[in-house]
Amino acid sequence: MIKISPSVLASDLSNLASEVVEIEKAGAEMAHLDVMDGAFVPNMSFGMPVIECLRNKSSIIFDVHLMIASPEKYAKRFIDAGADIVTFHYEACEDSAALLKQIRECGVKAAISIKPKTPAEDIFHLLDMCDMVLVMTVEPGYGGQKFMADMLPKVRAIREEATRRGLDIDIQVDGGINPETAKLAVEAGANVLVAGSSVFKSADRRAAIDALR
Ligand code: DX5
Ligand code: ZN
Repeated sequence: MIKISPSVLASDLSNLASEVVEIEKAGAEMAHLDVMDGAFVPNMSFGMPVIECLRNKSSIIFDVHLMIASPEKYAKRFIDAGADIVTFHYEACEDSAALLKQIRECGVKAAISIKPKTPAEDIFHLLDMCDMVLVMTVEPGYGGQKFMADMLPKVRAIREEATRRGLDIDIQVDGGINPETAKLAVEAGANVLVAGSSVFKSADRRAAIDALR
């Protein structure tokens, strides 16, 4: 099953709660919440206080993408704020295995993400500890960038390795996803699609979500 996770970064952040409620009603399975710290990525967005307030307004799955340095210092606080899935970057963490374990022990889903320059094979040893892997299809930091088609072999390699080992993991793609690139990503083995601009810049969010599916 394909799951759609609209990235609120492209939404009207001054009306975040109503934007999230709208995509929930429009059939999205989750809301992708991009946390940026100005250190791991050259941009800032929002943190746990915003997520905590938002938690009272919607029961949709909160898919929290941590683009932050030292994610091990903050993961627990994002879980307490209401994250259902915590994704952190392999490149930002000294002991990814320990953090994946810690996140799972808190009763939420644990996911690891790789930036475009990180080879898929670097995280193979972590696959059995992950509920989801996020393959970035742009350099993290900004919405509205162009999809990097050369990331597709990485999606394929992770799907093949997971299948070979009998692991039922979600593979998420994030960055430049629209109906055309979504098709390529799903063909390569992705099943969770993050889409910011293509959903929130569209007047009809339901149609945009349906088009991705
Ligand atoms: C980029 C973020 C993405 C971003 C996607 O660093 O992780 O989630 O919001 O935006 P679009 O879909 O516009 O590329
Ligand atoms: Zn993201």
